[in-house]
Amino acid sequence: MSSVTVRVPAKVNVQLSVGPLREDGYHDLVNVFHAVSIFDEVVAKESEAITVRVNGKWSDQVPVDDSNLAIRAARALAKHAGRTYGADLVINKDIPVAGGMAGGSADAAGALVACNELWGLGLPLEDLMEIAGDLGSDVPFSLIGGTAVGTGRGEQLSELPTGGTFHWVFAPAIGGLSTASVYAECDRLRQASGAEVPWPQLNDSLMEALGTGDAYALGSNLSNDLQAAALTLRPELGPTLDAGRQHGALGAIVSGSGPTCAFLAIDATHARDLAESLTATGAARTAVAAHGPVQGAVLI
Ligand code: C5P
Repeated sequence: MSSVTVRVPAKVNVQLSVGPLREDGYHDLVNVFHAVSIFDEVVAKESEAITVRVNGKWSDQVPVDDSNLAIRAARALAKHAGRTYGADLVINKDIPVAGGMAGGSADAAGALVACNELWGLGLPLEDLMEIAGDLGSDVPFSLIGGTAVGTGRGEQLSELPTGGTFHWVFAPAIGGLSTASVYAECDRLRQASGAEVPWPQLNDSLMEALGTGDAYALGSNLSNDLQAAALTLRPELGPTLDAGRQHGALGAIVSGSGPTCAFLAIDATHARDLAESLTATGAARTAVAAHGPVQGAVLI
């Protein structure tokens, strides 16, 4: 095998409930992930060393040094296999960078699947899931995609069957937000309010909406505990969310730690119209229609 290509989706969190700060610096979550049809492609070619290059929309914002999550993923896989391997990784990027859509996690998941194939390791998904969990809280979900509930840091997953396809619009913002700084802002706001932080609970109405494919019910049950923090750091996102609601979005939330805004549409036509309205009115610089759920990292 001299070249392998893997396609990996972005995600939005349809519920992100953040528990109290843990001693290890993470938060226990109830995190309902939903994979959507915005994809990065990871191409792995035979090479002496593990290297990465990035092409596409957001490529200038991605580090290509040792901090790159795809490089770290390939190294972790080689270490797990107990050998020195090389791979020239090329990432064709369509997922916003530092946008709250798990773009870095997608690239790591893509690199795991691609290198597993390129190097002929044949490791089962459960081994890749374990390596993925050490790389980042969202990486295991990027491997499986679909819709899933994440607990713990978000890495302990159970898959959720959904009753249909949901149609979305995503409005990436200029510049990203660091996930760690959004969680830190969330802690700061909670400390300032003095209110007790409840243990996160799965929203039963949301589960039902996902199960029956009811977009209206899903729209009114979307929630994100990181949203207040993201809006404090990026107040300009508030008017973007309002504009989406005014244009008939069934729900409007910050995606994960942001700053991408996510809008749930009625159907594919409404999603296209909503994306057009958001850009035409200047409420968003760009807006992309997408659907979910879609499958996770897959060889193409
Ligand atoms: O796991 P990952 O590297 O993606 O997490 C990035 C940062 O997000 C962590 O360093 C931590 O500050 C924050 N985080 C958290 N609780 C989680 C997941 C992430 O506080 N469950």
